[in-house]
Amino acid sequence: MPAIKDILYVRFTVTDLAKQRQFLQDFGLHTEIQDGLLIARGSDSKPFIYLAQEAVSAEFVSVGFEADSVEDLYAIAAIDEVEVVDNPLPGGGLITRLTDPNGFCIEIVAGQQPPASLTVGTRSGFNNGQEKHRIGARVAFEPGDCLIKRLGHAVLFVHDFATTFAWYAERLGLIISDEIVMENDGKEQSLGAFTRCNRGDEYVDHHTMFFIHAGKAEFNHAAFEVADWDVLMKNHYELKQAGYRHSFGVGKHILGSQVFDYWKDPDGFTLEHFTDGDLFNAAFGSHKRGVEDLVGTFWGPEGMPGQ
Ligand SMILES: [Fe+2]
Repeated sequence: MPAIKDILYVRFTVTDLAKQRQFLQDFGLHTEIQDGLLIARGSDSKPFIYLAQEAVSAEFVSVGFEADSVEDLYAIAAIDEVEVVDNPLPGGGLITRLTDPNGFCIEIVAGQQPPASLTVGTRSGFNNGQEKHRIGARVAFEPGDCLIKRLGHAVLFVHDFATTFAWYAERLGLIISDEIVMENDGKEQSLGAFTRCNRGDEYVDHHTMFFIHAGKAEFNHAAFEVADWDVLMKNHYELKQAGYRHSFGVGKHILGSQVFDYWKDPDGFTLEHFTDGDLFNAAFGSHKRGVEDLVGTFWGPEGMPGQ
């Protein structure tokens, strides 16, 4: 069965490219505009993790994944008998485009060339109660070339979770980390699931995709990883100061353990900063949890980011 390495990018149309670029820069991405395409990346070795073009209406366009290998890419494309073509985007390589059961455009790439390296914004060591990592020095924040390392996950409202998950499991090899279930008239009902990449013994994020059983197809949010919670909090106040619209947080999720902070971009799409997420390998298996664990937090506000 084919598999993916990780999620790679999310793509949108936006109503004001210059305004969006400014937001993404302030949010911590490294950006450039090439022939009307806004290309944003983090410090990890991917040519882009966010793409946007200007249009009359703001729309979620697609989500991109990296196939485990070129062979996996061809195996994925063969399932739906779709073409594999040269990828015209930065980094090149090969790309295939699929449509999932909800009508979402799913792009799979392989063989991208890594771009020039960037440094990520960090801070010097933490002096925790039990362990002191910064001795004889004041704290120092290093801004780096950008604040964001990588895209960690995306969340989609889907018409039907079971149909959707079966489709992604077959093509992308995704496995369930935590499925959200509730009792309804004595029957177990699924509200969706956090799913992760299957890379055997290798540790991956608790979730790469979270599909919410919602009876509709809609982008919910995309989440970008930063170095640590202090960097996250520092940027939180900088974004507030700059007058951007906050969505939800700061808090720490129960499922996945991420420290989260959700923001609205200028068109109202929700983009998240996160850090300190759980990592699991295939041995973690798949679990069922209740709604209280989905909306609950270790600390911070409970609930889900609003629309
Ligand atoms: Fe998230």
